[in-house]
Amino acid sequence: MQQEIARARVMNRLENTVAFVTGAASGIGAACAKRLADEGAKVVGADITSGTDIILDVRDEEAVAGAIQDIVAAHGRLDSVVNAAGVAGGGPVHLLTGEEWDRVLDINLKGTFHVNKHAAIQMLAQGSGAIVNIASIEGIEGTEGGSVYNASKAGVVMLSKSMAIDYGRRGLRVNCICPGGIDTPMLRSITDSDGMNVYQERLREEHLLGRFGEPSEIASAAAFLVSSDASFITGHALVVDGGFTAGLRVGILDQLGV
Ligand SMILES: NC(=O)c1ccc[n+]([C@@H]2O[C@H](COP(=O)([O-])OP(=O)(O)OC[C@H]3O[C@@H](n4cnc5c(N)ncnc54)[C@H](O)[C@@H]3O)[C@@H](O)[C@H]2O)c1
Repeated sequence: MQQEIARARVMNRLENTVAFVTGAASGIGAACAKRLADEGAKVVGADITSGTDIILDVRDEEAVAGAIQDIVAAHGRLDSVVNAAGVAGGGPVHLLTGEEWDRVLDINLKGTFHVNKHAAIQMLAQGSGAIVNIASIEGIEGTEGGSVYNASKAGVVMLSKSMAIDYGRRGLRVNCICPGGIDTPMLRSITDSDGMNVYQERLREEHLLGRFGEPSEIASAAAFLVSSDASFITGHALVVDGGFTAGLRVGILDQLGV
């Protein structure tokens, strides 16, 4: 009975709130949009591809501003934002072109800035709001060939923290999530490519839980962070990575048979 009450409470946690989710057509963004809606929020999803409420390129500041104004015109307010739009990319620096550098930073970091800026303008006017940016463990640790992707995600972590400082006294909470490997089209586009199978296994093994995560496991963290259950959490980079960044596992216990 108590479990049912607790579950009902979680399922209604976002009732009467309005949420905006970018990157909502696929993977983590789609899972976040579904989870927030399941918890009772009115969710407006946006993506550069079709299949969501709004077709939007987060690189286009005017379009982002317009989308948020339209949401407020239609629903009266904006309570939460999950910014999941992003792309993979990179490679070792000596081979990286300026075009690739600009492409990844423009979407992952500048796009995040556009969404955060225009959400913050509305949330400051309301005096309340919660933003969750999807960064990455690659924003807090270096990875092989990560270069511009890691730089973009480190930027997202610091943007989130600095906004938390600026707006904490004005009713806004800003956090980010640093996922490990999550089974989405983005991850598959990297690990399923030619010759990558062996690395896919190694990468999976680096997760202490022995598997990649599911998009729903990021969505549950995002729903928590935008909800009032996280009312005293701001400026936090929440690692959701199955133990990837916890420390080294070299198999000594396996060798000892324990
Ligand atoms: N999958 C992982 O292992 C993983 C790990 C850490 C962080 N992330 C981050 O999570 C976020 C979601 O990634 P995913 O794995 O779900 O990938 P995905 O490719 O499944 O989804 C990303 C979505 O972003 C959209 N998008 C891309 N460029 C856009 C633009 N300019 N404007 C609007 N939408 C745009 C895509 O169309 C796509 O629907 C990304 O920011 C990614 O960097 C993913």
